[in-house]
Amino acid sequence: MDERLHIIGGNPLRGHVKISGAKNAALAIMAGAILAEDEVLLDNIPNLTDVQVMSTVLNSLGVNTKFSNNQLLIDSRNINNYKAPYELVTKLRASFFILGPLVARSRQAIVPLPGGCSIGSRPVDLHLKGLQALGAKYKIEHGNVIVSAPKLEGTSIYLDYPSVGATENIMMAATLAEGTTIIDNAAQEPEIKDLANFLTSIGAKIRGAGTDTIIVEGVEKLNYSSTYSIMPDRIEAGTFMIAAASNGGNVIIDDVNPEILQSVISKLRECGVSVEIIDKNKIRVRNGKPIKPVDIKTLPYPGFPTDLQAQITSLLTTSIGTSVITETVFENRFLHADELRRMGAQIRIEGNCAIIRGIEKLSGAPVRATDLRAGAALVIAGLKAEGETIITKLNHIDRGYENFEEKLSQLGAKIKRISIKTESNNSLSSRKRELVTASNN
Ligand code: UD1
Repeated sequence: MDERLHIIGGNPLRGHVKISGAKNAALAIMAGAILAEDEVLLDNIPNLTDVQVMSTVLNSLGVNTKFSNNQLLIDSRNINNYKAPYELVTKLRASFFILGPLVARSRQAIVPLPGGCSIGSRPVDLHLKGLQALGAKYKIEHGNVIVSAPKLEGTSIYLDYPSVGATENIMMAATLAEGTTIIDNAAQEPEIKDLANFLTSIGAKIRGAGTDTIIVEGVEKLNYSSTYSIMPDRIEAGTFMIAAASNGGNVIIDDVNPEILQSVISKLRECGVSVEIIDKNKIRVRNGKPIKPVDIKTLPYPGFPTDLQAQITSLLTTSIGTSVITETVFENRFLHADELRRMGAQIRIEGNCAIIRGIEKLSGAPVRATDLRAGAALVIAGLKAEGETIITKLNHIDRGYENFEEKLSQLGAKIKRISIKTESNNSLSSRKRELVTASNN
């Protein structure tokens, strides 16, 4: 059943919003859970279609999963398969993260190559080079990566680029390798630190996660000891901060770590937005003034996150001047520009730059979410546009935002989900969330 979001723009957001668990940390930690020859209980898992697909990937390996009330029980005592199905891996790129743990646990794995997606070609060469350096042998046949590793041995690995997924895959495989692995030029994203904290909680020996050098001392076995709670989602938090800033809102964001949002906080301040750090897990965003233009370059952490590029583009469409956004992480991440233009935005794309000339008002229009964060950008645009915006392809948004429209409604937004078949309000409990088939990030 197809669904649409109907938004009537113009209502400033006001009140409190609580941030859910981080999708990207949850997906990596779910993959890492199969390293434990035990049951693992994870808390603060967001209820998202990506999490459902990752659970199905684990199930296909003989791993039992049970989700209830944002807790996920993963029982990988009886892994009996080392081949992941193509249909699932192409639905969720992050399912490639099972490669490292599966090789470490089963000493062999067959995982389909995920292929490209709407935001870029997204190769996995760095994941494979890293596993090879640890002693694994791989070949690519019929679209699958076939890996065998009778023995994994610690070594020094330098990543040509600080890839998040490659760092995670290598770090997970190294936990059960013989000896010490040093990963240099590692990605420093906070989700990697969360993954390392989880792995440490099941007995892994890891130092330096969150810096560009990670040291893993291999151990023989990993076992569950206590419930692990996933960190809050910094991208969801950033999305709400930008949404609040873009239509004269006054919102307190709860369950957020301001320290890992520094790049976003300083860019919003440069735009003239008031961002107050109320305490170590609360931020207030207020804005009643026109948005000032800014230039932004997306970069690996601690730089400005590519996963907030579309949302900040949406904010800058109504600034009082011209802004330039340079996207350095993914080569094709400007598909939202075409949809924002349908709402009147003045955006020109030149190579990896978007040049945004601010206009006074966007006008509501029917638009299509082309990927997860592009979908969020359109919601932000719809909230401030004149008239009604109708967003289709919600499967993208459902991949990464838990109860998005419910949270926005509670902040005073006029937003509702309508099923096209019945053209009537569709409650969350009865809603069937379609699994996604396109881009993943
Ligand atoms: C993760 C995040 C995604 C985020 C991205 C960058 C998850 C589930 N997803 O994706 O939301 O946008 O980090 O912050 O955590 N690359 C290579 N070779 C490789 C691996 C990557 O060339 O082997 C390139 C990619 O094509 C891309 C860049 O490196 O241009 C960054 O990719 P990477 O950091 O690996 O992103 P993901 O782990 O896929």
